[in-house]
Amino acid sequence: MKTVSDLVAEGVSGRAVLVRSDLNVPLDGETITDDGRIRASVPTLSTLADAGARVLVTAHLGRPKGGAGAGGENAKYSLAPVAKRLGELLGKEVALVPHGQRPELADGQVALLENIRFDPRETSKDDDQRAELARELVDLVGADAAFVSDGFGVVHRKQASVYDVAQELPAYAGGLVLSEVEVLQKLTGDPERPYAVVLGGSKVSDKLAVIEALLPKVDSLLVGGGMCFTFLAAQGYGVGSSLLESDQIDTSRKLLESGKIVLPTDVVVADRFAADAATKTVPVDAIEDGWMGLDIGPESVREFASVLAGARTVFWNGPMGVFEMAPFAEGTRGVAQAIVDATADSGAFSVVGGGDSAAAVRALGLPEDGFSHISTGGGASLEFLEGKSLPGVAVLER
Ligand code: 3PG
Repeated sequence: MKTVSDLVAEGVSGRAVLVRSDLNVPLDGETITDDGRIRASVPTLSTLADAGARVLVTAHLGRPKGGAGAGGENAKYSLAPVAKRLGELLGKEVALVPHGQRPELADGQVALLENIRFDPRETSKDDDQRAELARELVDLVGADAAFVSDGFGVVHRKQASVYDVAQELPAYAGGLVLSEVEVLQKLTGDPERPYAVVLGGSKVSDKLAVIEALLPKVDSLLVGGGMCFTFLAAQGYGVGSSLLESDQIDTSRKLLESGKIVLPTDVVVADRFAADAATKTVPVDAIEDGWMGLDIGPESVREFASVLAGARTVFWNGPMGVFEMAPFAEGTRGVAQAIVDATADSGAFSVVGGGDSAAAVRALGLPEDGFSHISTGGGASLEFLEGKSLPGVAVLER
């Protein structure tokens, strides 16, 4: 696989370089609530700009309904706030280039193309449609340009700006993709044992493939978040009005037969889904009708922490509760802190698997350097651990 260092060594001064970054950050209106992915994209972009390249970045934000242009309902998916923040971090202005406009770039300049998903061909299942968009991207930068794939969070998507364009231009792996792959390979290879995985998030069905792939490899799988209630239901507990996937109860029961899944023993329940709801902490066998579990309880945190304290390798994906609301943040905070402690005290190799968990680390004020690695990939890191081939990486290996 050719890398961005190879590209710089070839000489990029005055050459156009199209970079695919993952700048899909959470927004509250136009305010970026976690800029982790933008910060992670800076080293590759700076390297290229410092070497004199004319850098055009392409990225997506959210999942806008198709239709070209940033008008109407798509306006909230504009990358305008991201272009501004990227400019601040790079220390130079980053122009936002609307679709249909040709970027004017000087040597060392960086511009950001408006949300590539405004064009429905980006995510099309039709190979020809995606290839057509990829060729239009090449037209924007010229046929003598290079392509750098640096959006690790999106390499599991077979999309025009991730996969197809890499077949149209000489393609190189960016520093972020390289470092993410290197770290995650340590988990799929021969991780030091005990190997503990913490999974949260709302749905068992979303995590089924990764649970099945991980169970034979791990020593313990700690389950919190909304998905724990389907497992608790599989054990015969009533879960009140907590999240429940009834159609996954049988599957969850079979997974429990592995003997490796550790479930919460107490939960924080609320009378409604709100930060000012009435709350109480109850054992898992005492969740009453009309109450919903929104976090794991303190006894569960202690039990999870004692497993983590003995682990040599830890992977964590998915919050333990609705950490965005203060009354339901302590489970996620406690488990994250236990991983930080295991990393410091016993030298465990700890990886936070992107998305919400990475955002939680920063939102809850935990030290980012307390973990061995915080991945920028949510779905991408899970698919990597499942052992799936990631199209955006495979295309670079050709
Ligand atoms: C992510 O947020 O995991 C990546 O940016 C990919 O986004 P997607 O799930 O909408 O393809």
